[in-house]
Amino acid sequence: MKGLVLSGGKGTRLRPITHTSAKQLVPIANKPIIFYGLEALVASGVTDIGIIIGDTGDEVRAAVGDGSHFGACVTYIPQEAPLGLAHAVLTAREWLGDDRFVMYLGDNLIRDGITPLVDEFRRESPDAMILLARVPEPQRFGVAELESGRVVRLIEKPPTPATDLALVGVYLFSSRIFDAISQITPSARGELEITDAIQRLIDDGASVVPHVISGWWKDTGHLEDMLEANRIILDGLERRIEGQVGEDVRIEGKVVVEKGAQLRDCVVRGPVIIGPGTIIEDAYIGPFTSIAGDCLIRRAEVEHSIVLASSRIDGVRGKIESSLIGKECEVRSRPVRPRALRLMIGDHSLLELP
Ligand code: DAU
Repeated sequence: MKGLVLSGGKGTRLRPITHTSAKQLVPIANKPIIFYGLEALVASGVTDIGIIIGDTGDEVRAAVGDGSHFGACVTYIPQEAPLGLAHAVLTAREWLGDDRFVMYLGDNLIRDGITPLVDEFRRESPDAMILLARVPEPQRFGVAELESGRVVRLIEKPPTPATDLALVGVYLFSSRIFDAISQITPSARGELEITDAIQRLIDDGASVVPHVISGWWKDTGHLEDMLEANRIILDGLERRIEGQVGEDVRIEGKVVVEKGAQLRDCVVRGPVIIGPGTIIEDAYIGPFTSIAGDCLIRRAEVEHSIVLASSRIDGVRGKIESSLIGKECEVRSRPVRPRALRLMIGDHSLLELP
């Protein structure tokens, strides 16, 4: 069986971070989201993995490499444009051949992994298997309707959903999916929807097995989703202090301080992860915060936030919370009057001021 991981697309909901970076590489607990999917595939015994890439392909290649780090063998498959999930499958057709495969959306996180589902798919050999989860806002997802445990209808992002059962971004397919894709046309948003292709399979009488998962799952499309994913993953960390920690530092709870990080005169209240080469000085780092490598946090308080690599937060009054700060950003004080806000922010940025 093969794995197909989707890492193309535009990531418009996470702008401005995704102006310059792939959304699948935004770190959750200092690890790119896509790594969790790759690890889940390898854990289920799927090691021959194709990754669909788009404009941000070079960055994805640089991060994932040949896959050997994960125990996988990775092939990169460029998609000409983000024309839909079913289009991505078509793009990979030659590489997939007649093999059965797991399709894993590179921005999805499933805490409990997929091993039992892959095992069942191997054992029972249905034409397709889909994962469903109950969600509070089903209109943001593909939505399923079941009757007596069978899927009868799948609709992509319906304005008034008939159920709260969302399609999770992991699908298991036989090569029969290609025939279904060849029969669909682009949706109103101009994409070839995998949801429509699965509906086609159902209409053609193929066996499409639904699995309602009860464990935690997240599509990390929005900032709030990223922060929630970060909370859940950080909560599962084991305390590990490998960096330099001064005597005037108080560390409480589950905290990871990577080798090469330096902490001086600060309070760190976990769950928190602090990346290598980062300096925390005269500061407070509060629960559910991930600070990536080579950052400087000085005379500042940061809580419930994600800070990407090489950023500096220096001398900021008031706590920074529920924030996502990109790579090489600088947030600092300016002790010169008038005490005005001076901003240089990228396109599609969001600032919420008290
Ligand atoms: O996360 C689950 C949802 O994923 C499902 O409930 C929906 O039915 C399904 O359509 C999909 O919806 P999204 O709107 O969230 O998909 P998105 O455009 O964010 O794309 C998902 C991933 O696939 C993302 O990592 C980008 C990548 N992608 C997307 C497109 C459209 C590609 O690689 N190529 C593409 O053409």
